[in-house]
Amino acid sequence: MTTRTVTRWTVARQEALILEVLRGERTLDDAAEAHELSVEQLVAWRERFLAGGRRALQGDRARRVCDSIADAVGETPLVRLSRVIPDAEVFAKVEFMNPMGSIKDRVARHMVRQAALDGRLERGDVIVESSSGNTALGLGMMARLGGYRCKVAVRDRTSAEKINALKALGVEVVLVASDLPPEHPESYNRVMERIVRETPDCYFPDQHNNRENNQAHYLTTGPEIWEQMEGRIDVFVAGVGTGGTIGGVARYLKEKDPSIHVVGVDPVGSIFSEYFRSRTVGQPGPYLLEGLGDETPIECVEFDLIDDFFQIEDRQAFACARELASREAIFAGGSSGAALWATRQALAKLGRPARAVTVFPDSGHRYLSTIYNDAWLASKGCAA
Ligand SMILES: Cc1ncc(COP(=O)(O)O)c(C=O)c1O
Repeated sequence: MTTRTVTRWTVARQEALILEVLRGERTLDDAAEAHELSVEQLVAWRERFLAGGRRALQGDRARRVCDSIADAVGETPLVRLSRVIPDAEVFAKVEFMNPMGSIKDRVARHMVRQAALDGRLERGDVIVESSSGNTALGLGMMARLGGYRCKVAVRDRTSAEKINALKALGVEVVLVASDLPPEHPESYNRVMERIVRETPDCYFPDQHNNRENNQAHYLTTGPEIWEQMEGRIDVFVAGVGTGGTIGGVARYLKEKDPSIHVVGVDPVGSIFSEYFRSRTVGQPGPYLLEGLGDETPIECVEFDLIDDFFQIEDRQAFACARELASREAIFAGGSSGAALWATRQALAKLGRPARAVTVFPDSGHRYLSTIYNDAWLASKGCAA
């Protein structure tokens, strides 16, 4: 009688094989043939490895031991919001539990790993990006670990806490005036174009237009939410900044269950809501909320995947963030307040019992001098 040896594909073995492929020591086809695996299986392992490192293959948070802090990104908890929304089942994915304190760690890790893999980024190169601070912190983390430099343009309304954290990671910060129109040579997008032009050996991830941003969420945030909710989701709500979160998560969730209702939120002054409704670009205006909205259309916002859109005033977002801290003991940023507010709007509009999931992108620690400072709120006309 012949016995067949069954190979158990432990995490360590999956990882070893994928690393051989990534180092170019063998092709996917060769590896598949040698181990009697399908190429699709190997592609799935490779994608999970790139998106989540060893832990994504391992899938067990409790027993994880990370090779570097980048492997601690993701697998964040879902928390029930039973105090601020008692009459519905609403859960928030608390992304401030990522190493650099925001959801953007996922995106930074994925974009840097992809670029390093296909040669767009080499050791010693400069990673340049425009960011409200969170992506920059994630890129700063990846730059430290991978031996790259990092230079970012941030708007001058960005909190001092974020800017100081960037400097601690060795990121070079270029401050840009927040109130200049997009066509002004010193405006946010124009300054970025100039930095890219003038910096030799630079890699510009371009998080606003690079769909690898959305892909990071399709590969990690979406599947995590689906598994944590055991597939029972009626509504998904997310703030829209670059659009990566809502696009990547919505794509994954709708592939699993097309009936899931996806809702976006941006601040008054941003052009997204109007574009969603009429496909026209309105006049942008100033606002204080960090991380959400934009003044021009960008590639990563996948409007076709969004079913409804709400627009929020700064003071409503700040009040909801403070409500989260005082009633749920969830200490989060203004875009989390916006997510809470939009979830309430979406549930009220739906008018029937529903299970909802939303995302809290970053921590309140970033806003101690702004949203959590009564004098600042009063000075901006946003006092409760
Ligand atoms: C604090 C904060 N909230 C929300 C977002 C929006 O996420 P996304 O860019 O995936 O739309 C960002 C993006 O920069 C952010 O920094």
